Amino acid sequence: MVLITGATGHYGKAVINHLLEKGIHAKDISALVRDEAKAGDLKAKGVNLRVGDYDDYNALVAAFRGVDKLLLVSGSDVVNRDKQQENAVNAAKEAGVRHILYTSFKSNNETESSPIAFVSKSHLATEKQIKESGMFYTIFKNNLYLDILPMFFGEKVVETGIFLPAGETKAAYASRDNMAEAAANVLMGKGHENKIYNISNTENTSLIEAAQYLSEIVGKPINYVSPSTEVYFETMTQAGVPVEYIGFFAGFAEAIKQGEFVTENTDLESLLGRKPTSLKEYLTKIYSGV
Ligand SMILES: NC(=O)c1ccc[n+]([C@@H]2O[C@H](COP(=O)([O-])OP(=O)(O)OC[C@H]3O[C@@H](n4cnc5c(N)ncnc54)[C@H](OP(=O)(O)O)[C@@H]3O)[C@@H](O)[C@H]2O)c1
Repeated sequence: MVLITGATGHYGKAVINHLLEKGIHAKDISALVRDEAKAGDLKAKGVNLRVGDYDDYNALVAAFRGVDKLLLVSGSDVVNRDKQQENAVNAAKEAGVRHILYTSFKSNNETESSPIAFVSKSHLATEKQIKESGMFYTIFKNNLYLDILPMFFGEKVVETGIFLPAGETKAAYASRDNMAEAAANVLMGKGHENKIYNISNTENTSLIEAAQYLSEIVGKPINYVSPSTEVYFETMTQAGVPVEYIGFFAGFAEAIKQGEFVTENTDLESLLGRKPTSLKEYLTKIYSGV
């Protein structure tokens, strides 16, 4: 039995759909959800639902009983997830899980000096705990999702252009769906025990290229402006964006600028058995017809 957590989220659900498409029977897949009402589609497909919150240790132990491979999808509560994921790993161990797989985070600077240490710190703590747990493990060090670019660009990107202090530096953004499919392949495959995979695209691209592709796709010039961080904060504050969001976006932009997501690694391509979705393909899918 495999169990996927975060199954009502984008990544977890995509992993389950890939497992089903690849021929795994729904009865052999369990999904951890915290709100059953959000999992009607999974239930309809015959996937076993187990209810639990990362904050509820006893519920996690009960949910993980009988599970051979557990895919722990990192939590979305950046402030509290270190303790939540600690609960999940301890619960997996207590429940007798043989092999734990975890969606970690790929950044080239894993020290406190990174502008996104606030994101990577909890991932690194969970990685360490998993490696020391005695269970077999597989760590997916996921690069930036291509899917976060539309959020960085904003809903009015076609009118306003791209405004982000990320400079001209490239990053190996990869699609969330490709990452989920790679995880499904690992769950179904053999020989992935105690492996760490760098889940990144095999192309590195900059936001200059993103603006060029967007211009071609929508048929009008889309500019990319990379302001100073100060100007970015001022402009976004005047636009009424809450300060915590501005800080979040600015932290990621600065990390991109510092080259934290550049890599020549080809693990994702190997796990997929084909080239990952490119930036141009992804943007075409999202923005054609806009
Ligand atoms: N590499 C990147 O660029 C990138 C970008 C965004 C996120 N991430 C990370 O990757 C993870 C998966 O991405 P995603 O796009 O699938 O995010 P998502 O759609 O927000 O899904 C997160 C999932 O985690 C579940 N969850 C959150 N807190 C939980 C808790 N306390 N107990 C049990 N389940 C909990 C959510 O449950 P509900 O459905 O009940 O809310 C949801 O199913 C995120 O959670 C985040 O850690 C990475």
